[in-house]
Amino acid sequence: LCAKVIGTVHNLCKVFLNWGRTMIIRTSSSGFLHPVPSDITSQAAYQSRRDLMRQLAAGSAGLALAGWGLRDAQAQMARPGQLPPLASVPSKLAGAMVLDKPTPYKDATTYNNFYEFGTDKADPVKRAHTLKTDPWSVEIEGLVKKPARVNLEDLMQWGAMEERIYRLRCVEGWSMVIPWVGYSMADLIRRVEPLPGAKFVEFVTQADPKTMPGLRSSVIDWPYVEGLRMDEAMHPLTLLAFGMYGEVMPKQNGAPLRLVVPWKYGFKSGKSLVKIRFTDKQPVTSWEKSAPQEYGFYSNVNPNVDHPRWSQATERRIGEDGLLAKKRKTLMFNGYEAQVGQLYAGMDLKKFF
Ligand code: MTE
Repeated sequence: LCAKVIGTVHNLCKVFLNWGRTMIIRTSSSGFLHPVPSDITSQAAYQSRRDLMRQLAAGSAGLALAGWGLRDAQAQMARPGQLPPLASVPSKLAGAMVLDKPTPYKDATTYNNFYEFGTDKADPVKRAHTLKTDPWSVEIEGLVKKPARVNLEDLMQWGAMEERIYRLRCVEGWSMVIPWVGYSMADLIRRVEPLPGAKFVEFVTQADPKTMPGLRSSVIDWPYVEGLRMDEAMHPLTLLAFGMYGEVMPKQNGAPLRLVVPWKYGFKSGKSLVKIRFTDKQPVTSWEKSAPQEYGFYSNVNPNVDHPRWSQATERRIGEDGLLAKKRKTLMFNGYEAQVGQLYAGMDLKKFF
């Protein structure tokens, strides 16, 4: 009887959960979709799988194991086996290995924003197979001593591949925890030797109407353009990612390479990069062009500066929806304040949002 009751409760929860997930409303014709506040999330925080494995190796995992079983931990460590492996070493950089439990691969690869393939979260996984990633090259131009067009294979040799487990906070109010594989953007920047006048870096992503059906929509002015200040781009946490979960990047997540800037809203992390341009002027980004009052150039994660149409104080963690689900509190700079706060010393973050 007990098992039956538990089963029924479980099924009811699933029904509510799916209902919650489909309750997504479009609140503007030009802005992001925004989930309704009734979306359900768990607040549970777990040790990261690698942290746990380190503790296991050191024989100190007793307490952690009470909450998260050994078999569970080992399963999380396993490669998903969907794509070719991409070797890396765990990063030793401060802040590069968060302790939150990584989002299940399935969630990270089926709930995506990649508007070049449509605005629905399920569009990228359905449609991105048309993206042609071979051959691929990246044009590096502008105020640098060594401009170059570099093919992907060579670019992958420009830095030592590291695994980094970062939080990803979308401006829409949801978050994930993703083990990326890549190297610091700073490695690339040093190679091409920026000229003294280079103050900003512009990132341009692929825009091919033949393979990207989303380009028919005018939701933004294609190609998708993003930008960083030079010191932000040089910060060691700014990652040029070629893979995730120990494998090459899935197309829906921005194959074959993308940017990951963990302390900024997810839209600052452009997918499928084709051009990196060094400039003396602050780039005008696609989202700024589309809705300047809503999406600023900086877009640092900040629970104290609300989006004009919704609060940024909390977030729901994808993949951790559950019975006692509650929203998590959003952290200043997405929890990377110790590492990056200095970059913004003295700046009015309400003005430079
Ligand atoms: N890059 C491109 N080229 N096109 C996009 O639509 N969406 C951004 C960002 N990079 C986007 C993009 C947004 S809004 C987010 S939240 C992240 O990618 C999502 O990354 P993920 O789908 O891998 O979680």
